[in-house]
This record gives sequence, C-alpha cells and structure tokens, in this order.
Amino acid sequence: MSDANRVLIFDTTLRDGEQSPGATMSHAEKLEIANLLDEMGVDIIEAGFPIASEGDFAAVSEIARQTKGATVCGLARANIADIDRCWEAVKHAKSPRIHTFIGTSPLHRQIPNLTMDEMADRIHETVTHARNLCDNVQWSPMDATRTEWDYLCRVIEIAIKAGATTINIPDTVGYTAPRESASLISRLIETVPGAGDVVFATHCHNDLGMATANSLAAVEAGARQIECTINGLGERAGNTALEEVVMAMKTRHDIMPFTTGVDTRKIMHISRRVAAVSGFAVQPNKAIVGKNAFAHESGIHQDGMLKNPENFEIMRPEDVGLAATNLVMGKHSGRAALRSKLNELGYELADNQLADVFVRFKELADRKKEVFDDDLVALMRDASNDP
Ligand code: KIV
Ligand code: ZN
Repeated sequence: MSDANRVLIFDTTLRDGEQSPGATMSHAEKLEIANLLDEMGVDIIEAGFPIASEGDFAAVSEIARQTKGATVCGLARANIADIDRCWEAVKHAKSPRIHTFIGTSPLHRQIPNLTMDEMADRIHETVTHARNLCDNVQWSPMDATRTEWDYLCRVIEIAIKAGATTINIPDTVGYTAPRESASLISRLIETVPGAGDVVFATHCHNDLGMATANSLAAVEAGARQIECTINGLGERAGNTALEEVVMAMKTRHDIMPFTTGVDTRKIMHISRRVAAVSGFAVQPNKAIVGKNAFAHESGIHQDGMLKNPENFEIMRPEDVGLAATNLVMGKHSGRAALRSKLNELGYELADNQLADVFVRFKELADRKKEVFDDDLVALMRDASNDP
C-alpha cells in the first residue's frame, strides 16, 4: 500500500467534542483521554482552544508536554492574540501545530463585519504570523460548504501562499451531502494554485446524519486528513465519529483502499472512557461502539452466529476491543443459543432435558426483557429440584 493512501486521523474530542453543551471534562480527564488517543495511534490531537480559558490553556500545555507520538494542535481565531496564546500552549510538544480559522461564508463574514478584501488581508496576516511561529499550520475557512466558490478558492490560495501546510474544509453546519463533499474537494485540489503542496482535510458535522459518509467521500476525492471525535461527540448532532470512519476503511478496504495508524482494538475502551467523562452515554444501537453493535437476540441470528459469525457480523468484535459477540438471551432466542449459553455456564443437557428447560426459559423470557446468566443458573437449579 502506497503512502498516498495513508489518511491522517485528527481527533478533536477535546476541542470540538468538548464544545458540546454539558460535555465539559476536568483537567485530569482531558489528560487521560489525550493519553489514550496517543496510545491508540491518532496522528493529531486537537487538545483545546488555549485562549478560551486558563483551564483550556493549562490542559493544552500539559497535553503538549506529555504526548509521545501524536502532533498536538491548538485552535486560534484569526487574530494575533489568539495565535500567540495558542503557540504558548502547544510549543512544548514534540510536534506542535497551530490551527487558525475564520468564517468565510456570506453569513459568517458578517460576524467580524469584514469586507471580502479585508478578510482576505486578515487571512494573509494571521497565517503568516502563525507560520513564523510554527512550521505546522492548519487553516480552516469555517462554513466552507456555504462559501461562494470563487471566494473559497481565493482565500485558500492566500492561506497556502502565507504558509499553511494543511487546508481544512469544514462542513460546519452539517449541510453537505456525499457527492457534493467529494466534488468540492476534488475541484479545490484541481483548481487552487499550490493545492498539491498541502494536505486537504475534511471536518464534518452530523446535522443530517451524513458526517461519516461525507468524510469518506472527501477522502475518495483526495482529502488525506479526517477530523473526527470519539463517539461522534460534538456540538448539536456531533462530529464525524472516529470509530466509524476508521472501521469503514478497514472493513471495506476493497472499495476504500485507505489506511490509518489507529490500533482499532483500543476503540471500545476509549469510547467507554469518553462516554463516562463527558457524561454523554452512547446510544445502544450506535455503529461500532453501541451496546448492541455486536449483540444478537433473535433465534435465527443466534443460530446463524453459532454456525459462522460472518453470517451476521461484518467486523470481528476483537478488532474493536470487545472480548466476544454477545448472544443476548431473551424471548426471541432459540434452542441452539440456549444450549450454547448453558454449555458456557457448565451445563451439558440431553435433548429431552433441553426441551424441558427451553419451555421454562421462554416463560421467564416473556416476563423479563433480558435473561442474564444468573437467571439461567437459577432456572437450572429449579429444573433439577423439580421431580
Ligand atoms: O466546525 C467548524 O467549522 C470548526 C472549525 C473551528 C474548524 O470546528
Ligand atoms: Zn467543528
């Protein structure tokens, strides 16, 4: 596999993810998550927004000092004070990055109340300043997917000439769709002078539930950095979920022949830790990391799973850090699953015994949502005590 197909994973759980209302993490929790991200093999950790608060500054500085492998990035608006503060925090890293941005769409241009020319000058000035401090500068035209085409090309060219090394294309309000996401990236790469010298990144929000599809479409069109968060944590409907894009490229490598540096076996642990420290529980049917993502209750599925897991699973649970598939015992379960579960619990039953226990099990399952191992042990005890 050539390096041309290596996709950088930029995790922004600690910045965009933490911006989610109510998801605030403590200093110690941020250090723990950054460490897990580093161990998992993400390429860039966006550790926070240093000028936002003393706490953010302290967290980004310490993450910069502790991180062994990943590049550590901080966010800065398009002004000198933000960029200086960001540099003060990230400069301790082995590999620091400054990420500076400004809203370029007609709506977002009204916020600083700059004309198009004034904004272009501001971009030139701030990216130049960032590049004088740091060799690794990322620039983002916020709300890129609602920015006029000509203006988008113009400001990206300015940022590249001023020294940006990564150009991120944010779909800030989750507005784009896969085909449009792909065409935007490929046209920018073809059109903007100097585009071949920088990495193009995709940063998608999930307002219409298309963040993963839009990110993968952008990669197919030439983007080589995906910005994402664990569990898709993020403002409103969240950001692209790291576990989804990484597992999609691994599982469908036949049609998406891209690689990442992520050790996918660490996904489940970090997902659980992010859920615990952010207070944002993962929905049971969430792709990859939901409680039911590798669980089966219906008799037909359980029987199929026992014969060959590939019948109903496209990924191996071990590949995301789960010990095994979970055959959930409930009213939809069949005899094969009951026998297998009882074998696991140490019971070997003849066919006539199993038939009797199966009737008792179904009665119990009609009363309970889920039948746990302890329930089955009690049921076996009752069955052996009855004459
Ligand atoms: O969604 C967005 O536009 C952002 C930028 C700061 C990159 O998070
Ligand atoms: Zn964002």
